[in-house]
Order: sequence, then C-alpha cells, then structure tokens
Amino acid sequence: MENILITGAFGQVGTDLITALKDIKPHDTIIASDIRIPQDSKPGIEQVILDVRDQESLRKTISRYNVTRIYHLASILSASAEKDPFLAYDVNINATFGLLKTAYKEHVASVIIPSSIAVYGPGISRDMVGSGVPTVPQTMYGISKVTGELLGNYFNRKFGLDVRGVRFPGLISYGTVPTAGTTDYAVEMFISAVEGKHYSCYLRPDTFLPMMYMPDALNALLKLSDADSEKLTNRMSYNVSAYSFSPEQLASAIRRYIPGFEVSYRPDERQIIADGWPRSLDSADAIKDWGFSPEYGFNEMVSDMITKLRSIRGRNKNAS
Ligand code: SER
Repeated sequence: MENILITGAFGQVGTDLITALKDIKPHDTIIASDIRIPQDSKPGIEQVILDVRDQESLRKTISRYNVTRIYHLASILSASAEKDPFLAYDVNINATFGLLKTAYKEHVASVIIPSSIAVYGPGISRDMVGSGVPTVPQTMYGISKVTGELLGNYFNRKFGLDVRGVRFPGLISYGTVPTAGTTDYAVEMFISAVEGKHYSCYLRPDTFLPMMYMPDALNALLKLSDADSEKLTNRMSYNVSAYSFSPEQLASAIRRYIPGFEVSYRPDERQIIADGWPRSLDSADAIKDWGFSPEYGFNEMVSDMITKLRSIRGRNKNAS
C-alpha cells in the first residue's frame, strides 16, 4: 500500500488523477495538496493546503502521512509563466529542487514529475520529434521543465532517488477548464461549441500541435510509475502523444456534431510560444520501454469530449 502525495492536485491533471488512483488503487491513501482546496472536492482523500515553495510545510506533510510516492504536478504553465517569469522560476524550478531534496531526505520511494513539449525550442525540425532531440527552449516554462528533467536525473544518479517523467503534449479533458497554457485553446473550443457560443481562437488556424486525451495521459503516468526501473532507458524525458491537429481541423471535427459552430482567429502572444514547439512527437521510447499505447484516436476523443461536456454543461440546441 502506498501513501501518494499529489502537488497541484486540483489542476487539470491532478483532478482526474485523483479519480483514476481511487479507482485502480483503492487501498492507497491519496493526499491531495494544492494552494487552494475547491469546495466541491472529492471525499475519500486527504486534502492539504500546501504551497510547494514552502519547504517546511512540504516536509511536515511528507512526514505526517509517511508519503511513499509523489506526483509533482504543481506548475505555472506556459502562457502564465511568460506573464510572470519570476514566479514561474520560483514555483517550477526552486520548488522542484526543494521537493526533490525533501523527498530524498524523507526517504520517499519515488517521484513522478511531468515535463512538456515546451522543452523544445525554435531551430529543430518540428515533425515527429523524438526524445533525444536537443532541448533549447526560449520560454520560462520550457526552461523550467528542462531543469526539472535534469534535476530528476541528477537526484537519481547522485542519491538513487527514483524520479521519472513524461513529456506531455497538450492535454484535453472535460473535468476542469485549463487556462494557463498554450494548448488550452482546444478545451476552450469544445466548451464554447457545446454551450452554443462563438469561439475566438488565440492561435492561427493552421497551428499544428501534438495532443492527447486525459485518460491516455493518466494511463501513461501510471504505466511509467509502475514500470520496471531496469527497463527505463530515458528516465525523465519520455515523449508521449496520441495525434496532432490544428485549430481549423478541430473546429471542423466539432462541426460534425454541432454544425453551426463558429470560430474566428485572433493570434496573440501565445502564437509565438506555439511556433517554437514541435508539430508532432515521436513516442517510440515510451512504446518500447513501458508499453505506452493511447486508446483514443482523434475522432474518438472528439466524440467522447462532446458527449461528456453535453452531459455536464447541457445540450446545445444546434446539436445534431
Ligand atoms: N499544455 C502545456 C501548455 O500549454 C504544454 O505542456 O502550457
């Protein structure tokens, strides 16, 4: 039995990770920590208000619950990090270093830290980018994610701490509304469509980015967490992605269900971030080392998102 601490537990990934862990590991204790606890949060878990920058509170939490595994999800995402790079440095780099140090000192068995496509920067060939392609990011989010990967490898080599990570593409889910990233237009577009509203997209219509549906992202996290350590040829930087699409492709796929859906395009500063990222990812290392295999193709994801959002947010009158 594990005592699993999640930082940033009520963000986009954490919210769904709690549900997945409760399903597949019902006997584990889940300690969900975040800077705020939502009023309608889930029963059956421990909830802790925790700012990951506060190392003493983190240490007390780890010690109090005898934490054996940490999913370190607390992070300032790409668009917010460009607005406040000093805060992003503090949360994404200083606090990650503090968390690794505390995990090692408190004898936590394993730490999982998601990384991102943001580790890449301009100047690389942007299609089917593999895990070994050089990472030279120009955004603070990307810099912080590369640093997290390097620190994870360092703590593993130096102290034997079991740290692992995947590089996530844009993640699509219906449970929370993400707003701090560059790939979040996709979720916003779905929500506008289901609510019968026009959507103004902040990326150009032809901006391709790698993406994945949340159930596949969680499967990847859980498979990597439980993978045989001997098989990991690439601890911190497994590229994982299910497909790539552009805003105009997503809009036309949504129109198969909601024919009247209208989108306009007004690229803003997030376009510059997206233009530095891969258009598609090569997940070969993850497939080979721990059997990454996403279940949802693009069409299945679109269909499931619309079904789930309709049941949560009410039916759109134009819907077919
Ligand atoms: N979804 C993240 C972002 O857009 C990228 O990993 O910031």
